[in-house]
Amino acid sequence: MPAIAPSILAADFSQLGEQVKLTEAGGANRVHVDVMDGHFVPNLSMGSIVCKGLRPVTKMPLEVHLMVEAPAKFLDDFVKSGADSFIFHLEVEPEPTEMIQHIRSLGKKVGLAVNPNFAIEKLKRYIPEIDLALCMTVFPGFGGQKYIPESTARIRQIRQWIRELNPACELEVDGGIDARTIGEASAAGANVFVAGTAIFGAKEGATAATKHLHDLAA
Ligand code: DX5
Ligand code: ZN
Repeated sequence: MPAIAPSILAADFSQLGEQVKLTEAGGANRVHVDVMDGHFVPNLSMGSIVCKGLRPVTKMPLEVHLMVEAPAKFLDDFVKSGADSFIFHLEVEPEPTEMIQHIRSLGKKVGLAVNPNFAIEKLKRYIPEIDLALCMTVFPGFGGQKYIPESTARIRQIRQWIRELNPACELEVDGGIDARTIGEASAAGANVFVAGTAIFGAKEGATAATKHLHDLAA
C-alpha cells in the first residue's frame, strides 16, 4: 500500500491544525515535518514545537525529516513532543549505525536520506538496519522545486537492494512529487510519497489533492 506524507512546509501556518486535518480526511498516512537548520541546507524552518502543537490534532504518525548538521542534538525534544520517526542524512553521519541504534532505543522508527548527488552505493550497506530509505528527488532546502528526472533510476536501484536485503524497508521520495511525477516514482519502486506544494497549494483543496495522489500511486 502506498503512503502519502503531506509536507507541512507548504501549509498555511496560520491554520496548521486544520490544514493537517484536511489531508487526513483525504487519506494521508503520516505528517512529514521538515526541519532545517540554515547550515546543512540554506534555509530555516521549524522545530519540535510544531510537533507538540500537532500531536493532539491528528492521529497520523509524525515523521521528522532532519535536514540539519547535528541531528543527535534534537532527538529528545522531538520525542517529548510526540514524534514517531526520524529521518537523517547520510551526508552528515557517514557512519550512521550508532545513531540508528540510538533512535531505535528511543522506541522510534529510523530512516536514512540521501541527496540527489550522493553516491547511493554508500546507502546500500545500511539498508538492513533501517525502516525507511529516503531518496531525495530535489536538493533539500525549499518546497516547490521540480522533480529531478535522474532520480527515477536511483529509486529503481534502491528498490532492488531493498528487495534483496530488507523487504520491510520503506522507500520514500521527497521533492517535486505531484500528479505528473508520482506515477513514475511509484513505478520505479517508491512506496512513500512526500508532497507539499501538490497538496497544500492545490486549487481543488488539500483533501481532494491527497486522494488524487493516493489513486495515482496505487
Ligand atoms: C525539501 C523538503 C521537502 C519539501 C517538499 O527541502 O525536504 O519535504 O517540503 O516540497 P514539495 O512537495 O513542494 O516539493
Ligand atoms: Zn522533507
